[in-house]
Amino acid sequence: METVECDVLVIGSGLAGLLTAYHLADEARVLVATKREAWESNTNYAQGGIAAAVAPDDSIEAHVRDTLAAGAGLCRESAVWEIVGAGPARIRELERLGIRFERREGHGEEYDLGREGGHSRRRVLHAGDITGRELIETLLAAVASRSNVRLCPHWMAIDLVPTGWLGAPGPDRCVGAYFLDRQSGEIRAVRAGWTVLATGGAGKVYLYTTNPDVATGDGIALGWRVGLPIRNMEFIQFHPTCLYHPEAKSFLISEAVRGEGAVLLNGAGERFMPRYDPRAELAPRDIVARAIDHEMKTRGDPCVWLDITHQPAEFLINRFPNIYARCLKLGLDMARDRIPVVPAAHYCCGGIETDTAGRTALPNLYAVGEVACTGLHGANRLASNSLLEAVVCAYNCAAVIREEMRTAGRPPPVAIPDWKIGDAVPSDEAVVVEHNWNEVRTCMWDYVGIVRTNKRLERAARRIRNLRLEIRQYYKQYLVTSDVLELRNLAAVAELIIRSARERRESRGLHYSLDYPWADPATPGADTVIRDPPGGPIHDLPESWG
Ligand code: SIN
Repeated sequence: METVECDVLVIGSGLAGLLTAYHLADEARVLVATKREAWESNTNYAQGGIAAAVAPDDSIEAHVRDTLAAGAGLCRESAVWEIVGAGPARIRELERLGIRFERREGHGEEYDLGREGGHSRRRVLHAGDITGRELIETLLAAVASRSNVRLCPHWMAIDLVPTGWLGAPGPDRCVGAYFLDRQSGEIRAVRAGWTVLATGGAGKVYLYTTNPDVATGDGIALGWRVGLPIRNMEFIQFHPTCLYHPEAKSFLISEAVRGEGAVLLNGAGERFMPRYDPRAELAPRDIVARAIDHEMKTRGDPCVWLDITHQPAEFLINRFPNIYARCLKLGLDMARDRIPVVPAAHYCCGGIETDTAGRTALPNLYAVGEVACTGLHGANRLASNSLLEAVVCAYNCAAVIREEMRTAGRPPPVAIPDWKIGDAVPSDEAVVVEHNWNEVRTCMWDYVGIVRTNKRLERAARRIRNLRLEIRQYYKQYLVTSDVLELRNLAAVAELIIRSARERRESRGLHYSLDYPWADPATPGADTVIRDPPGGPIHDLPESWG
């Protein structure tokens, strides 16, 4: 087995991962491992933009207030102040890197700011409606120009390597990870002084999602398997407006469309949001998604309709070029037609417990971006705060690692043993993986979705547990493939979501239970934290570590 050496191993190539690598490239040999093409990540599909208090009529205080209000009592206030407060400086830095955020026509350098739900004013910087793609392209070019950074696409992480699992002396710390090279089928280890998880979210846990195929919760599962505390996993954000069309897979219709005046109509053509909240279409996402879910279920409609036909085509083409073109390709002219939409899983507010520099409970292991739970989002993320969190935490994480390198130097290397395949053979039953993959996602959509009940959660818990046992058996029996690794992670994350949801006996933010329809005033600010011994309740480590 080949072992590759580096100072800093970054797993994931979205905004948080690439920025961390970029910031460290002067001081360290950085290896960025990513399981598909380097550009493929949740960031790449971010349309709305990045929230920051940069307008003359805005303030850090107002942005903090809106973030705390959306977070429904669960935000970590110090994290909110720190991340929101750093926003304007980090935006200037992105601009120095070459990102060009839209300016208002005829207003010089004044930003053209988008408006999204839960924000008390226009606050979202954007590059057309392809902000994420702009960020990724710019960062990939920046990273490619640094000789110290090695980009390794198609490397899929199997497991982290903590010294505790190796029986090495001294306090436990992370020394790297095992990877499957998806192209050659080889397994290799990366030995690193510092490891940064930047693997993004877990939208694929649900049958319907705005996320790309890569969002299988890998980092959360990796962290949980080495015993890290996992926080607030019950808070899954469902985006209210995912395009509902047989040929459109996971295509988001940005909230910024509602910010420009689009209204939501039910099957009878009635505008329903004012019945649910005085902020109507610009209420926070949990409220809008629940209202849509309620309309669809009570009326038996397969979707609702987004109507922005009051805006002229010229404005729509200019403001939403990507969304406009995509809809048009499917025969929908936004300037004339209503767009069919449904809610879909969009963002995981929980994750590996970290501070705002990505520090985890395991020394030398960091987590940044959607995989982490810093406390910024609380029980519900304010729109466009996630790119902000990624940018600020990547910067902070790089600064902390740089300081550790400077003061303590690289930790002593530890030998990583060869990957043992035991009696594993190539699988002749790939259909099991396909079947279980669909079953996890359907079960989560049906029983652990926007509206939950005790009975549904219990049912989901039983099914996912059985699936996990089956997956574990399969994992031990057959040679690893990326499909089985993703399924193993997906099922672990599904279990974490269900367990967290069952622990929260109230409704708060994104977690809504018909059995406990109110927020419990006795437990304000109480997080749900799952901390299992390394290996998890169903021990699913490779047998060599059993
Ligand atoms: C959107 O454009 O609606 C998504 C923005 C976000 O999720 O923050």
